[in-house]
Amino acid sequence: MMHEGIFSLENKSIVVTGAAGLIGSVQCKALSDFGASVAVCDLNYEAAKEIADTLNEKSYPVYADVTDTDSLIKAKEIILSNTGRINGLVNNAAINDVFSDKSSVLEESKFENYPLELWNASINVNLTGAFLSCRIFGSAMTEKNGGSIINVASTYGLVGPDQSLYKDKSGNQMFYKSPAYPAGKGAIINFTRYLAAYWGSRNIRVNTLCPGGVEDSQDENFINNYSKRTMLGRMAKPEDYSGAVVFLAGDSSSYMTGACLVIDGGWTAW
Ligand SMILES: NC(=O)c1ccc[n+]([C@@H]2O[C@H](COP(=O)([O-])OP(=O)(O)OC[C@H]3O[C@@H](n4cnc5c(N)ncnc54)[C@H](O)[C@@H]3O)[C@@H](O)[C@H]2O)c1
Repeated sequence: MMHEGIFSLENKSIVVTGAAGLIGSVQCKALSDFGASVAVCDLNYEAAKEIADTLNEKSYPVYADVTDTDSLIKAKEIILSNTGRINGLVNNAAINDVFSDKSSVLEESKFENYPLELWNASINVNLTGAFLSCRIFGSAMTEKNGGSIINVASTYGLVGPDQSLYKDKSGNQMFYKSPAYPAGKGAIINFTRYLAAYWGSRNIRVNTLCPGGVEDSQDENFINNYSKRTMLGRMAKPEDYSGAVVFLAGDSSSYMTGACLVIDGGWTAW
């Protein structure tokens, strides 16, 4: 079915990284529903394939590791051989810290002890991965067609983490949100402004989407604590970001660049 109207993405070839994730997979569905050909890119090819199978017939899975230049160049070649062009890019791929020893998470996650390897791993995927993806996929957006890049940050790219969220019911701190995630997400917002200014003359628009936390089987205490911090009194559903990604990827946002679209249930507004 052809999709018409101001939100139509027909004839757009859109690359989504981290596309097999909680938010990425739902974004792929929205982009596909509005007519885009979606390159469903992820480290996890099998999961990307399963998602692509549920999308329109123009969409397909692609293996891509955003930290590896060669892998991104290969992914770009596959995409260009499928569609001949790239009109949009959604940089979702990101990691959260994984502490190997669960018994020492509280100690290890303290700023004073936070392992340098975790800092480097987080910055490598969450920030350098977006930089490389923009450079490699963005370079295929031509002056004639322009393009739209959406970098995905977070509430924690705008404000510092509220460490009290990570306390149990009795008030004991379970772990600390680490410094790397907010540092990377904050940097993404200004990297976006850099690139919007740099590529404005080529009609490539670059914006940041700042999502708030999605409910995803966290413990009840966390969900309650988080919900109270939002004006809407709840965590997000992945679908809460679908309209935004369709808007940012398409011509309906044609005069928007260098901006940050904050969708956080009001968390940062009071
Ligand atoms: N889920 C939330 O509550 C939330 C809140 C705010 C911001 N965000 C941001 O939204 C984006 C999507 O989040 P999500 O919840 O869908 O994450 P997720 O963890 O569910 O999915 C992330 C995906 O990225 C992939 N990935 C990891 N490393 C990769 C690499 N090197 N190359 C390619 N792919 C890689 C993973 O395989 C996974 O499919 C992220 O940038 C995240 O930081 C999420």
